Amino acid sequence: MKIAVLTSGGDAPGMNPAIRAVVRAGINSGHEVYAVMDGYAGLVSGSFEKMSRKSVSEILAKGGTIIGTARLKEFNKLEVRQRAINNMKEAGIDALVAIGGDGTYRGAKALTEMGFPVVGLPGTIDNDLACTDYTIGFHTALETIVDAIDKIRDTSSSHQRCSIVEVMGRYCGDLAVSAGLSCGAEFIITPEHPMNKDEIIERLKVHKSEGRRNAIIVITENVCNVHEFAEEITQQSGFACRATVLGYVQRGGSPCAEDRILAGRMGAYAVDLLSQGISGVAVGIQNSKMVHYTFDEVLSTPNESMQDIYELAAKIR
Ligand code: F6P
Repeated sequence: MKIAVLTSGGDAPGMNPAIRAVVRAGINSGHEVYAVMDGYAGLVSGSFEKMSRKSVSEILAKGGTIIGTARLKEFNKLEVRQRAINNMKEAGIDALVAIGGDGTYRGAKALTEMGFPVVGLPGTIDNDLACTDYTIGFHTALETIVDAIDKIRDTSSSHQRCSIVEVMGRYCGDLAVSAGLSCGAEFIITPEHPMNKDEIIERLKVHKSEGRRNAIIVITENVCNVHEFAEEITQQSGFACRATVLGYVQRGGSPCAEDRILAGRMGAYAVDLLSQGISGVAVGIQNSKMVHYTFDEVLSTPNESMQDIYELAAKIR
């Protein structure tokens, strides 16, 4: 079988180990493996490169994705997807492994519905996909955030400040709640568990009156304008407040061991599925076991894998 592999959407640490696993497991199972450059854009332009064992050596520790990624809005058009399928057929490609987040899965679902076999791997720092406990990249991004917040805590304490730290996640609070829990953040604000601003300000006044030298508020992006919120806190609580937006630093860096292992397991599992003639599904990990669900199931199920972490963060605040 000829298997193509692509990475799409926001990059995530661990995408390279996932590519390596698909290539190596694919070749070891007697298949040929082709990389598609720059996500779905490469499918549409027919940008394929035959991979060898050597072309994926020394990439396990590399951040980003060696085959590039992109967001391609036009992929929601039937004629654009048809061009992609025609290009794959012309190159003799039988199946595709698509590594990415929910946008990638929507594209994969559409290709599946057009009769082309696709298996998806969850590659996003956001952990915002259902039917998997973790996505590839989440743990590395979490380590980066925890390291940054620990540093921000140091300087906040020296200056007796409150710090708001905005983290990625798009509309999912898994990174914020996990980082907040790990750093003992005084407040964790997520789309799933928003907090009343007035209540935060009242609690900060008490916090300051108790002689506490700093406070950390971890917040998911897209919840509010953190700079305006910092100004409100400064004006109303008597606690000088600064906002830090961590930004793209969270998406870079060498994948941690957990992400490398997860990516390896998922990549090899995807090849096993295709070898057994199974496609139209996304791979996940649940209770340490590899699982697969249809794209429909993943895209229509609420993502509640971190419910216990949200409860724990509230319990030991
Ligand atoms: O999905 C990954 C992610 O990093 C989100 O956390 C963030 O909202 C988004 O991508 C940023 O996307 P872009 O790279 O297009 O700015």
